[in-house]
Amino acid sequence: MPLLDRQLVVVTGKGGTGKTSVSAALAVLASRLGKRVLICEMDAKGTLAATFDVGPLPFEPIEVSPGIWAMAMNTEDSLREYLRLFLKIPLIGRLGVLARTFDFVADAAPGVREILSLGKLCYEVRERHYDMVIVDGVATGHVIAQLRAPDAIGELIKVGPVKEQTRWMQDILEDHSRSGVVLVTTPEEMPVLETLDLVGRIRDETNVDIAAVVANRVLPELFGRSEEAVFDALQQPEIVDALRARVGNGVDVVLDGARLAVAMRRGGAAHLEHLRNELPEGTGVVYVPELFSRSTGRRSAELIADALGEELL
Ligand SMILES: Nc1ncnc2c1ncn2[C@@H]1O[C@H](COP(=O)(O)OP(=O)(O)OP(=O)(O)O)[C@@H](O)[C@H]1O
Ligand SMILES: [Mg+2]
Repeated sequence: MPLLDRQLVVVTGKGGTGKTSVSAALAVLASRLGKRVLICEMDAKGTLAATFDVGPLPFEPIEVSPGIWAMAMNTEDSLREYLRLFLKIPLIGRLGVLARTFDFVADAAPGVREILSLGKLCYEVRERHYDMVIVDGVATGHVIAQLRAPDAIGELIKVGPVKEQTRWMQDILEDHSRSGVVLVTTPEEMPVLETLDLVGRIRDETNVDIAAVVANRVLPELFGRSEEAVFDALQQPEIVDALRARVGNGVDVVLDGARLAVAMRRGGAAHLEHLRNELPEGTGVVYVPELFSRSTGRRSAELIADALGEELL
């Protein structure tokens, strides 16, 4: 199922690889296709809000751009909504004692917090309030616990409304035509190794589909074969001497810069090749270039959406 046709997309990846940027760009791209999109920040860092040039995001989604609603996850609000919607217990004001009890239970039982956060988003999918729900997810270390939350809770609780909830959440999460994980990586050693490790764990420990791997910040091919020949010629000692005599010692700095750019590009390409070789057959890799413009926020989300669009549409 094409990525943009899915109803629930959970974006994850090593810290700093571009999860928030890619999530925002996917939302922009989906909204360009006329979809109503909900995007949720799970980590309360505020980066998603900054991407859309708005203030701190509340739990109640706000429209940050035509067709894009954004919210920040908050387990207390999610618990309140859960109690109201599923157990029909309306609560006014802060949860107080109940919240403390909840913290106690959540700390003791694995999956409670996760089921409340991912459960809220699955609920939005189930109710079809939006065409697409994008989760600007937690980093690689925690995503398995999140994806496995319905299993974990399902093992703890055998009957009743909570059990019922784990069942329909699982139905949504494990339906490969509706849900999928997007793993964001960069062409560097550690992010690539972490991505491959996570791909293995998702396949071994969950039934959730991997919708795509996004290789973010890929450096452009600076030199083709003929430019490389020119560059080699320029590095000949007599030519460097001649250039120095003409334009000064700055020539060495410029040549060093070009050499470094080529080395980085080649190193990155090797990591990407390793990624492609080790990924299970059929896993789509989508490339997003390094943005060199100084653009931030909304503008960079648009540029990354352009790049994703070229590969996904
Ligand atoms: N394609 C790109 N080109 C240039 N800069 C990029 C690109 N993608 C992301 N960045 C920059 O990299 C930094 C990290 O990106 P982002 O916040 O999206 O990562 P993240 O994975 O969400 O990080 P965290 O783990 O802290 O949540 C930001 O400064 C962002 O602007
Ligand atoms: Mg982020």
